[in-house]
Amino acid sequence: MQVANTLVDLRNAVKTWRLAGERIAFVPTMGNLHAGHIKLVEEAKQAADKVVVSIFVNPTQFGVGEDFEAYPRTEDADKQKLQAAKVDLLFLPSVAEMYAEGAKTVISVKTLSTLHCGASRPGHFDGVATVVNKLFNMVQPDLAFFGQKDYQQLAIIRAMVNDLNIPVEIRSTETVRESSGLAMSSRNGYLSPEHIQIAPKLYRTLCTVRDEVLSGNKIDEKIEKAAITSLNNAGFQTDYLNICRQTDLQKAEQQDVDLLVLAAAKLGRSRLIDNICFSLAR
Ligand code: PAF
Repeated sequence: MQVANTLVDLRNAVKTWRLAGERIAFVPTMGNLHAGHIKLVEEAKQAADKVVVSIFVNPTQFGVGEDFEAYPRTEDADKQKLQAAKVDLLFLPSVAEMYAEGAKTVISVKTLSTLHCGASRPGHFDGVATVVNKLFNMVQPDLAFFGQKDYQQLAIIRAMVNDLNIPVEIRSTETVRESSGLAMSSRNGYLSPEHIQIAPKLYRTLCTVRDEVLSGNKIDEKIEKAAITSLNNAGFQTDYLNICRQTDLQKAEQQDVDLLVLAAAKLGRSRLIDNICFSLAR
């Protein structure tokens, strides 16, 4: 596996592949890799001739008081995992390599970025959209892979690619879960042994909400509120739990068919997010 720390080295490697007519897949990450990331890499390998993974803990997507400093940086273990997964190139830039001093351009995907997680993490999705756009310009991949656990992030990236005519095909992979149902996340490492026992309740609660809607219950705030109370009683501090449309992430109406229930909840130091997509047969 080649490792590039600079844009020049990255471009040189990618240029050689392009000239040889090879298809390039890209998996952007912030490191501390788990089975969910490796699944993205495996799918990328199936779809392309060469796979580039980036590891960059992006400061612009962390708000004041969030965990940028504490975010787990596990470079050596990550390199081993990527080597074992037969990644062709790891792009590992510094903050200075990624952001020129005085950079003034921010990509903001309107509306989508202010809902759900965006409401409690102002600026977060602008940071994500901007860095993903920059990474796309740097790597110039044919396809890029993102996990469905970050459903809102995925929707924002799809919208950005569409709106700005970015020639990158976006693919998504299903959330990888622990046997308890807990969605894998780099932030699960913050959970105490006690909280690890409680954490799977987030997914179970989403399943309960889905089942209630599937069994014909009216989609309304009562279902959402009951689920939030149940999470809070279990020890979570729930940020939101919303039933919405898959297409635009707006509040679901009774006639909607393709639905998404998504939630964010704090458990100790860890802010967990998860979601389930489902469709009503009408
Ligand atoms: O999902 C992530 O790990 C990050 O938000 C991403 C897409 C790598 C951008 O920093």
